[in-house]
Amino acid sequence: MDSNKLKEIIPIEQIWINLENFESRLYEISGSEDSYLNEISHYLINAGGKRFRPICTLLAGELGNGDNNKIIDAAVAIELIHLGSLYHDDVIDDAETRRGVASANVKWNTTLSILAGDYLLAKSSELAAETLGLESVKLLASTYAELVEGQTKEVQYQYDTDHTTEDYMKVIEGKTASLIRTSAKLGAMAGNCDKKTTNAISKWAWHNGIIFQITDDILDLSSDTQTLGKEAGKDILEGTYTLPVLIALSENKDKVKKILTGIRNSEIELLEVIQEFNNEKIIDASKKYLDHHYKESMKSLDAIEDSKIKEILIDINNYLIKRSN
Ligand code: IPE
Ligand code: IPE
Ligand code: MG
Ligand code: MG
Repeated sequence: MDSNKLKEIIPIEQIWINLENFESRLYEISGSEDSYLNEISHYLINAGGKRFRPICTLLAGELGNGDNNKIIDAAVAIELIHLGSLYHDDVIDDAETRRGVASANVKWNTTLSILAGDYLLAKSSELAAETLGLESVKLLASTYAELVEGQTKEVQYQYDTDHTTEDYMKVIEGKTASLIRTSAKLGAMAGNCDKKTTNAISKWAWHNGIIFQITDDILDLSSDTQTLGKEAGKDILEGTYTLPVLIALSENKDKVKKILTGIRNSEIELLEVIQEFNNEKIIDASKKYLDHHYKESMKSLDAIEDSKIKEILIDINNYLIKRSN
């Protein structure tokens, strides 16, 4: 997903003006008077990122008639949580790159990555309490709890060849879909949307969050470091068995288990067997999950009045689905 493509899909001047204001507000809120911490907390913001979650917040905000600055702050609170979770995720996954640069755990160390992540999460709460109100603070807190539950489950299932695609769905619902759902919901709340619209856009985002993670996991198997900004095939090497791997396991348990054990013990080179997980049959089976969530997210839009924003939401659905191709 590149930002230029999103620009094409969202031809609304106001969104891009808001996104510019979002960037300066994000920079301001995430800064610290301590210059050392300031450098670390700004590091991944400067490295880029697609800003997919804040864009969802801004789009949802446009469905109502709320205060623009509040919608921008909602987007900032969301991106701060996302950023905090990325600093932590790279420690958990022992990652080397993020957003096309060395991850913070490599550039500094794990301790400082955890501290910078904590700092950004704290700043999100502070901002939400100051400008968004109690209901939003509560929503952000419970969403982060869901995200942590998802991340914990993933660690629990590491190298586990017995867990199922249903277990995987629970992992990604927690670690990814929950925050994307809340990105839209918080924007709708800040935008004063009615209940029906808020529910609809939240559902739309939830299903897209699932699509987002499944495509991310498929891309992990097929892309290279240059296009992804992170290492390819890393999930398997790290013992994170995502949907394609779990489908392969469910179809030929003994053989695939042997391969995974071989990779784990460095007896088998991953690239030599990657086709076991990245072949047409497995990808087609993975796409059945994508189709289901695509249909559900489209269906949720029935409750939203026809508008330019609604057309854009449909275009985003189509774009996210294509991302895995
Ligand atoms: C990365 O999210 C973490 C996942 C849930 C896959 P993004 O792919 O949105 O990362 P950035 O913000 O663009 O760097
Ligand atoms: C990231 O999941 C989810 C969160 C940051 C909560 P992954 O570990 O699958 O994402 P990448 O591949 O590092 O971006
Ligand atoms: Mg990771
Ligand atoms: Mg991870």
